[in-house]
This record gives sequence, C-alpha cells and structure tokens, in this order.
Amino acid sequence: MRKKIVAGNWKMNNTLQEGLALTFRIIDLLKEKPVPDVKVIVAPPFTSLHPICELINKEGYVHLAAQDCHQEKSGAFTGEVSSDMLFDLGVKYVILGHSERRQYFNETDAQVLAKAEAALDVGLRPIICCGETLEQRNKGKHFAAVKKQLKNSLLKINPAEIAHVIIAYEPVWAIGTGENATPEQAQEMHAFIRSLVKRKFKKEAANTISILYGGSCNSKNAKEIFSQPDIDGGLIGGASLKAEEFVAIVRAV
Ligand code: 13P
Repeated sequence: MRKKIVAGNWKMNNTLQEGLALTFRIIDLLKEKPVPDVKVIVAPPFTSLHPICELINKEGYVHLAAQDCHQEKSGAFTGEVSSDMLFDLGVKYVILGHSERRQYFNETDAQVLAKAEAALDVGLRPIICCGETLEQRNKGKHFAAVKKQLKNSLLKINPAEIAHVIIAYEPVWAIGTGENATPEQAQEMHAFIRSLVKRKFKKEAANTISILYGGSCNSKNAKEIFSQPDIDGGLIGGASLKAEEFVAIVRAV
C-alpha cells in the first residue's frame, strides 16, 4: 500500500504568528474529522519551524517539512541551514529541487542529489521535485526533461534509501498559474516516473514510492487529480495558505 500524502509548501509566506494560527486551524479541522489514511505535512519558512514543531508535537495530526537544506553538515556557508539542524529541531521531511530553487537559485540536479543524500544521512525524508517547463511540454520534450532531472538526482540515490524518498511532479507551467495539469497529463507523467523507478530500483520500490502532484491544485480539482492510479497526493502551494481550503484538499485524497 502506498502512503497518501498532502503537503503544504508555504514558500516565503506567513510570519510566525500567521503560521502558528494557520497550523492551529488545520489541526482543529483535522481533529473535528480526522483523515487517518492521509499524511498531512506543512512546510513553513525556516523562521517558523521551531515553534510550529512544538505545536505539532503537542497536538499531532500534522507533520513538519522544511523547504530546503544545504548539502554540507556544517561550515562557512552563510545563510544556509543543514539537514542535521533541521532533524535536530524535529523536522521530518524536506522539499528539495523545487522549480523555484532551480529557477531563482540556479540549483542543479547534482545539488538536489547531494542535498537528498545529506537529508537521508540524518534521517530526514526528502521530497524530490521535478517537472518540465511550458517550452519543453510544447516541444513534446516533457518526458525527456523529467527523465533527465531524475536520472541525475533520484535515480542515483542509494537503493537502500529509496524507500524513504517521496517524489513530487510539479509541471513548472502549472505552478501558481491557475492552470493545473489535466488528470490525464498528470497520470501519464506519474506512471512514467514510476516506470523509471521500477527500471532502476526493485519493483517493490516502484510500487511503494509516493508520487505527489503539484501545480494549481485546489479543493475543486483535487478529487479528480487524486483519483488517478499513480497519483498519491499533492504538494500544494497557494491553496495551502488557507486552512479550510487545504484541509478540503486533504479530504479529497
Ligand atoms: P501552487 O499550488 O501555488 O500552484 O504551487 C505549487 C507548488 O509549487 C508547491 O510546491
């Protein structure tokens, strides 16, 4: 059985007070009507991780992710945060290789791999992102683009660790645009990604790895997207900033 997961990537949004209030409300809604089959994750900015972790430790229902980590354990890397530091705080997951990091911070597949290895080393579970640009899709190169990203990151992970990895397919053209991939487009890519995992690792890894969809996912389109056989949940941006909307997406799994 594959784990169903819905993760909210807050990006650079929410002050500490706003983040605490949002998490509190999400927990309240989940308490009212639990969704035990779905793992619910929030990924606040670094500055809010510790207090939100304390709230989550006290209340339950929600798990904590960071939005990035550095690949080195420690050292002279001003402004960076290591996987060790995150794990020490109580963080359990880390989003890696988000297209915004690739686009604005020139993050490469090799860095995504190094960060994923650093995360796995300390017991953090990486959520490795991939996805093609609009240009690549329009040229019919979307499968090749995603394959290249994963070949140099996910598919180089130590096979002994692959069971701890989560994948997120986020077509760049769907992120924050209001234009989600159709369920068929998403399913086709998820099945392709699963086939890559199957070819490289054991069949069991392909059958058990969770692959999340991200890109303009909301409470209206979530059910149809999540009903696809290879889609195991979502990585949600804008719609994760409102508790009711986010929890409605969780309930759509
Ligand atoms: P949106 O849901 O705002 O399109 O963002 C998706 C995303 O980037 C999640 O990581």
